[in-house]
Amino acid sequence: MEFIIDTADLKAIRRIVEFFPVIGVTTNPTIISKEKTDFKQLALDLREAVGPDKQVHIQTTSEKAEDIVAEAKALYDLVGGEFYIKIPIGAEGLKATMMLKGSGIGVTMTAIHTPQQALQAALAGATYVAPYVNRLDNVCADGVGVVADIVTIFDAYGLDCKVLAASFKNVQQVHECALCGGHAVTINPDLYDQLVYHPLTDKAIVDFTADWKSVYGDKGSLDLI
Ligand code: G3P
Repeated sequence: MEFIIDTADLKAIRRIVEFFPVIGVTTNPTIISKEKTDFKQLALDLREAVGPDKQVHIQTTSEKAEDIVAEAKALYDLVGGEFYIKIPIGAEGLKATMMLKGSGIGVTMTAIHTPQQALQAALAGATYVAPYVNRLDNVCADGVGVVADIVTIFDAYGLDCKVLAASFKNVQQVHECALCGGHAVTINPDLYDQLVYHPLTDKAIVDFTADWKSVYGDKGSLDLI
C-alpha cells in the first residue's frame, strides 16, 4: 500500500518525508491556494521538498481537453521526475487522459465519487483514481464502500489502475481503506502522526525508560558496550 502526503506546505512535506515511508505528494487548487505564493516556484519547491525519486501530483486548472494536455506537458517539463497530472473526472478530462497516453505523463483522475466514474477513468488510461472518502461520508454515502467497490471492479476486469483514496479526516477511514484493498492513500501531515499514536505505546516507552534508568542511570546501551 502506498502512502502519499496531501499538502503543499513545504516544511510539513520535508518532515513527513524524513520520518514516514511515503512515495510522494499530492496537491489540488485549494491546497496550492492556501500557500498564497508564486505558483511556478511552489511547483519547483514541491519537487525539491519531496525529492527527485518521489511522485508529484499537481491538478489541472483547465477545462478543455486540449488545454489540460498542454498544461500537463508544461508542468511535466517544469517539475520533472515521476509527475502526475490530476484531472477531475468528466468528459473533457477523459478525453485529455486518452490524449496523454504514451506521453510519459501519468494521470490521477480526481474528484471521484462513484465506482462508475472510476471505471471510466481506468478505461481511459488513468494510472490512479482518487475517490474522496470523507466528503462521501459527510453526505452519508459510505466513502470506504465506494473505495471497496472500485477495488472490486478493477480486480474483476484486471484493470491496471490504482485506487488512491483521498479526503481523510481520521485513522479509521485510512484503516478501512487498507482492509478493503485500496492501493494508496493521500493524507494530510497531521494524520501521519495520528497513524502511529497510541497511549499504550507512550506508556510502554515511559516504562521501558524508567526501568532502564533504575539500574543504569543516564547511561545508554551505547555507553555500556
Ligand atoms: O484532493 C482531494 C483531497 O485532498 C480532498 O481532501 O480534505 O478537502 O476533502 P478534503
